[in-house]
Parts: sequence; C-alpha cells; structure tokens
Amino acid sequence: MAATKKLLRALAGETQEIPPIWMMRQAGRYLPEYRATRAQAGDFLSLCYNPELAAEVTLQPIRRYGFDASILFADILLVPQALGADLWFVTGEGPRLSTITEQRDLDALKPASEIHETLSPIYETVRILTRELPRDVTLIGFAGAPWTVATYMIAGRGTPDQGPAHALKDGNRPLFEALLERITEATIDYLSAQIEAGAEVVKIFDSWAGSLKGADFDRYALEPCRRITAELKRRHPGIPVIGFPRQAGEKYIGFAKATGVDCVGLDSDVDVDWAARHVQVDGCVQGNLAPHHMVEGGQPLIDETRRIVKALSGGPHVFNLGHGITPDANPDNVQVMIDTIREG
Ligand code: CP3
Repeated sequence: MAATKKLLRALAGETQEIPPIWMMRQAGRYLPEYRATRAQAGDFLSLCYNPELAAEVTLQPIRRYGFDASILFADILLVPQALGADLWFVTGEGPRLSTITEQRDLDALKPASEIHETLSPIYETVRILTRELPRDVTLIGFAGAPWTVATYMIAGRGTPDQGPAHALKDGNRPLFEALLERITEATIDYLSAQIEAGAEVVKIFDSWAGSLKGADFDRYALEPCRRITAELKRRHPGIPVIGFPRQAGEKYIGFAKATGVDCVGLDSDVDVDWAARHVQVDGCVQGNLAPHHMVEGGQPLIDETRRIVKALSGGPHVFNLGHGITPDANPDNVQVMIDTIREG
C-alpha cells in the first residue's frame, strides 16, 4: 500500500507543495505542560522510564501544534545505561556517566543482547503511542549513532571538542573500535525492538559527527550508520531511516547513497541552496531552521522559514530545525513557523 502519511511520503521521495513538519526536542522544557509532567515524574530519567508519562509528553506537542510526526520521548544515553554504565543528570549541567578508558571498563559492560531488560519501558511507550497518536501522525523512534554515544561513554559527560574520545581513538584504537562495535550491536537491537513495538521510522542522531575528519568520518560515522541501516532494513524491509550526521559539512555529499538512509538531516550551518544541489539530488533532506529563531521570532523567523521551504521545494523535504529547540524558546514562535509553512 502506498504511504499516505505526509512524513512517509516525503521519505519515499515525494516532492510535496507543503512539506511535513516536526521539530527536534519538540517535547521539551520550552513547553509549560512538559515541565509540569516532568515535575510529576520527579526527574528526567524517571520520566523516560515511565511509559504513561513519556507517552504523555510525546503527545503534548502534537495536541498543541498538530505536527506531522511525533518522536518517541527518550534519550540517546539510555543505551549506555542499558549496557551497564552509570548515568545521571546534573541540573543545569547535563549528563554524567561512568567512564570507559581501559579494557576492563569495556569488559564490565553487558553484552548487547541484554539491553532489553532496562529498555523494555521504552518499548511500552512506543506501544502506547501507536494506539494514541492521531492516524495521520507518523511515529519516529531513535537512537544515538555509535560515535556520538561513545563520546559520552568515554568522557563520562558532554565535551565541547570530544577530546577524550579522540584521544582514545588515536591512543588505543582496538579498545575504541571494540566499544563502537558494542554500541553498534546494541543500537541495532534497540531500534529493531522499537520498530517491532510500532515505530514507523527511525532516526540515528550523530550529533558529533562533524568532529570526525577524513577517513575517521568514513570509518566511525558513515560505516556504522550504513551497517545499522542495512541490518534494520534486512530485518524490517521497507523501514525508512533518517540519518543526522550533524555538522558533516562537505561529507553530507553522498552520505545517503553511501549509508542507504532515506533522508539526511541538515544542521543549521548548511546552506539550503547548496544542499538542494548537492544533497537533495540523492533524495529527501530534513531541516534546517536555526533554533535561535524560536527564541527571537519576528520577521526574521518568517523570512528564514520561507527561504528554506522555497530553496528545498524542488525535491523531497521534511521541515525541521537544524538542532533541538532550546528551553528559552517562545512556544508562540513554533505556531508562527507552522502557519508560515502551511499558509505560505
Ligand atoms: O527530540 C525529542 O523531543 C525526543 C527526545 C530526545 C531527547 N534527547 C530528550 C531530552 C532526543 C531525540 C534526544 C537526543 C539526544 N540526547 C541527543 C542527540 C541530539 C542532540 O541534541 O544533539 C543527545 C546528544 C542527548 C544527550 C543529552 N540529553 C544531553 C546532552 C542532555 C542535557 C542537555 C539538555 O538539553 O539539558 C539531555 C537531556 C534531555 N534529553 C532533555 C530532553 C527533553 C532535557 C532534560 C530535562 O527535562 O531536563
């Protein structure tokens, strides 16, 4: 049966006059109803592992705005936790994890096949959402890409330049590659379970892909994405995959062909006229309004939204931000963006 949902049509390569719309971090702290549910859950991780409340926050932006797609509420760092890493969030600072710096740290992790024990509440969230989402809204599952997840596992926190991960890659390549292998296997099983629970699309977030250069990009960003995509499509024929090699720059060229993803997410640094010529020629692109417009609003938000839609109107496009919406965004600006796209 041909896809009827707007997002699935774009991912299948259809050019639409009005592109489907969703937003990274659309369930998040900029929404008062999210903050209320998060307070009810107690903290962020308790919210992720509470299927009823996680489904509730996933649905909030759908009710408020009527997006074309909904992204499962969870986090990329649940996979390290399911592999046995300690994980906690420090308010105002971000995630903290136990670190991986030597062989015995890797040996202490669980095999990829054991992640489901921890992650089963996430699959329950997906099952609830498949029942409760409006019929025309597509449910997106997701995971972090192995490199991005590894940068947090190695450093034990977010890092501005991914220095500790680069140091391990260059100083102990066998350990680094064994860690990437473990994450890759876990990611395949995790995404596969999300698809079995009802996710209709999956997205692979490689937020730090841009810090891998040259052959390192090909080996540690492109190749894991290719492998995950190929295995998911082998297990679940026809499942669409969105790749997001953030800040890949010139490496965006040919990424979809080389990895087999159906759509490539563009960050806000990418010039849309360039992307139309060099990336969209291979299929669907997603993006890429700069998140600061959601804080500032006004005419620049409207002008920039129109410019992106127009530049990418000659091929399949999914409208999104170039990165997650920030907590200081004004919820009214999201409605302005949507009205601008749907009303011209
Ligand atoms: O997009 C969505 O709405 C779906 C849910 C989602 C979250 N995180 C919820 C979240 C998704 C897809 C992610 C992905 C994620 N998580 C990435 C990749 C995308 C990106 O942003 O680059 C990364 C690197 C993480 C790791 C992570 N999670 C960090 C660094 C932080 C702290 C920074 C911050 O924004 O506070 C988180 C926390 C997090 N994940 C929040 C949300 C809504 C904020 C938690 C809160 O409520 O306090």
